[in-house]
Amino acid sequence: MRPEPADRYPLLSVRNLSKHYPLRSWWGGKGSVFRAVQDVSFDIRPGETLGLVGESGSGKSTIGRAVTMLNPPSAGTVAFEGTDLAKLSAWEMRRMRARIQMVFQDPYAALNPRMSIGDYVAEPFRLHRPGMARAERRDEVEGLLARVGLDPRFARRYPHQFSGGQRQRICIARAIALKPSFIVADEPIAALDVSIQAQVVNLLQDLQDELGISYLFISHDLRMVRYLCQRVAVLWHGRVVELAEADALYEDPRHPYTRRLLSAVPVPNPVEERARLRAASLLPPADPDAIGGLVEVAPGHWVADTRYS
Ligand SMILES: Nc1ncnc2c1ncn2[C@@H]1O[C@H](COP(=O)(O)OP(=O)(O)O)[C@@H](O)[C@H]1O
Ligand SMILES: [Mg+2]
Repeated sequence: MRPEPADRYPLLSVRNLSKHYPLRSWWGGKGSVFRAVQDVSFDIRPGETLGLVGESGSGKSTIGRAVTMLNPPSAGTVAFEGTDLAKLSAWEMRRMRARIQMVFQDPYAALNPRMSIGDYVAEPFRLHRPGMARAERRDEVEGLLARVGLDPRFARRYPHQFSGGQRQRICIARAIALKPSFIVADEPIAALDVSIQAQVVNLLQDLQDELGISYLFISHDLRMVRYLCQRVAVLWHGRVVELAEADALYEDPRHPYTRRLLSAVPVPNPVEERARLRAASLLPPADPDAIGGLVEVAPGHWVADTRYS
């Protein structure tokens, strides 16, 4: 299985990534393992947004933390600009961290309640550019706050003084401080009011245009993913069951799980709703082990080879 883009050199290349968590048995002895992510491969091209969709518990965050090495994979490789991240020394990984950032679902949890947001946004400079003069750092922070749509004078304030959308802007300001080329955005708008979601998504898009950032955009909001992503990977029980250009995936979904996911938006009319549920009952097999590797069914459109009993 090699779903590689033919046209451009990938920025991020994930191959056969698996993540297992030990299961402790009830008597405290050594148990088996829970396979949260199994044999996942995908590439992200420079400047591209790849969507990663799937139900809660399907392994999306596990993949996000594995590709940034916050929680390294159990097996498989993650290569960034051709460099295998597992082979970097601690010092080299530290430098790499400046280029790979993460934005999370809950900005309030990411922020430090006792740190002014100016100090919070300045932290990457303190860690990675220790020689930077104070005044220069202040200018950088003010520029970053302005860039994400916040008043630079807010730098003295604390997280509790901001709304959810503003807090996510603060987290984004910090994430772009060192001009990363790749950001994992793990459900970055899921906790925000619907009226604010589009603003934050537009900010992410503007930053991409300006700075050429690539995103792994993790979400269960299929409409937002279609709007934002060039390609989409569908995750089911820790496996990619379909990977395609967004238009191909939404207009011609091939895997039964993708079809179910796309038909999962409830319809208020009870007659239509029954028909919808009937169509949705064309379910993939319940056993994740029935899901095999990806097969290219059309150019760039990959579908998991699935056994049906
Ligand atoms: N540290 C952990 N230890 C054990 N199991 C975990 C751990 N983190 C996640 N899991 C399990 O792995 C599966 C995938 O979790 P996650 O990646 O958070 O899914 P998603 O982000 O798609 O909701 C879930 O069943 C979850 O309970
Ligand atoms: Mg998650």
